Amino acid sequence: MSRTPPPIEIDASRAAARGPLGMPPARFLRDYWQKRPLLIRNAFPGLVSPIAPEDLAGLACEDGVLARIVEHDRRHDRWRLRHGPFEESLFPGLPDRDWTLLVQDVDKWDADVAALLPHFDFLPRWRIDDIMVSFAATGGSVGAHIDQYDVFLLQTHGHRRWAIDARPGPPLDFRPDVELKLLQRFDPSHEWVLAPGDMLYLPPGVPHHGVAEDPCLTFSVGMRAPSSAELLGDWVDAMIAEADEAERYRDPDLAPARDPYEIDAAAMGRVVEALNRLRMNDPDRLGDWFGRFITLYRASGEAVPDEAPRPRAEVERDLEAGGVLYRHPWTRTAWRRARKGARLYAAGQDIALPVRDAQALAAATAIDGERYARLSPAGRDAAIALLEGGHYRLLMPGDDDAGDEDETAP
Ligand code: SIN
Ligand code: CO
Repeated sequence: MSRTPPPIEIDASRAAARGPLGMPPARFLRDYWQKRPLLIRNAFPGLVSPIAPEDLAGLACEDGVLARIVEHDRRHDRWRLRHGPFEESLFPGLPDRDWTLLVQDVDKWDADVAALLPHFDFLPRWRIDDIMVSFAATGGSVGAHIDQYDVFLLQTHGHRRWAIDARPGPPLDFRPDVELKLLQRFDPSHEWVLAPGDMLYLPPGVPHHGVAEDPCLTFSVGMRAPSSAELLGDWVDAMIAEADEAERYRDPDLAPARDPYEIDAAAMGRVVEALNRLRMNDPDRLGDWFGRFITLYRASGEAVPDEAPRPRAEVERDLEAGGVLYRHPWTRTAWRRARKGARLYAAGQDIALPVRDAQALAAATAIDGERYARLSPAGRDAAIALLEGGHYRLLMPGDDDAGDEDETAP
């Protein structure tokens, strides 16, 4: 007997389970994650957008911020894509309809936007790429397309009509005439209007098209997963960097050649052996490579080491006096249990630590005096090393964060 498929729509305000999924995370992961779309009404009931359209436009004018404007000329079905940073004077001249401003990585620039991330803690944080925020004028859209990654599309202001094709094997040919990767054919199977607090989950590869019903803001909480080719490329680079030149193809057992031009089975066996000698079949080496790789993956900003670090004793005095270490918004962290103790990974570095410290530092976007005091001596060394590497910044109570190169008070 075939099991009825799980529903494609749920109202979280009527569900017994708390949280934005409207069901226990284990059920969501089993039935929907990477498998099928889910519309969650009232995922964030009463949500007020943590960022205003004007702030988003301001951000899109800053250097280093990835921003795009997509305009649609409906009459001729032509699309125009512009890349930021933009001049502030551009915005008042935009039409009343049919355009969208999209800003990537807003969680790195705005602490209130980043504050949404803990709601997604049922996923490994290192799987989450960024929160992209779009503002669309009425009628604005980026056209029908697919994404390679899972995404949670959270409506935070205004209304957007989402149409999706949830059927298996949808047509995926792209339009040859547009810079954007738009679908040639799009035949929706479902359509909904999302209001603030509603959220649509889409696994990779589901055709979707969202059109603003009125001026609206949509947050895309987007995942990233490295392709097998990216993983292999980085892994091979790491193996090569660590390799001993003296390790090479060896044939002390060579027998007289029957045919000097033949690559025989014994030779191929030796090739496999030579490759295997480099392979990271040690779980700690493999884990350290992956931890370094994934905490750097796709980060388009980076911490800059402090050229004149303050003496540690001074930093510790400041922490006792109410100072707080705030993590650099681009420093992604993770940790892993090792054969002995644990390893903390921070923006491509690995640090050996006791499990408790690795766990605490990976989670600590802010370290106050109390948190610092709870670390072991090795954990404190690591916190200071990360501060000196630019991965933390010390702020005293009342320090004004404004005017810094980024706006995130992490
Ligand atoms: C948007 O926010 O306009 C587009 C998001 C998406 O379709 O991935
Ligand atoms: Co999309």
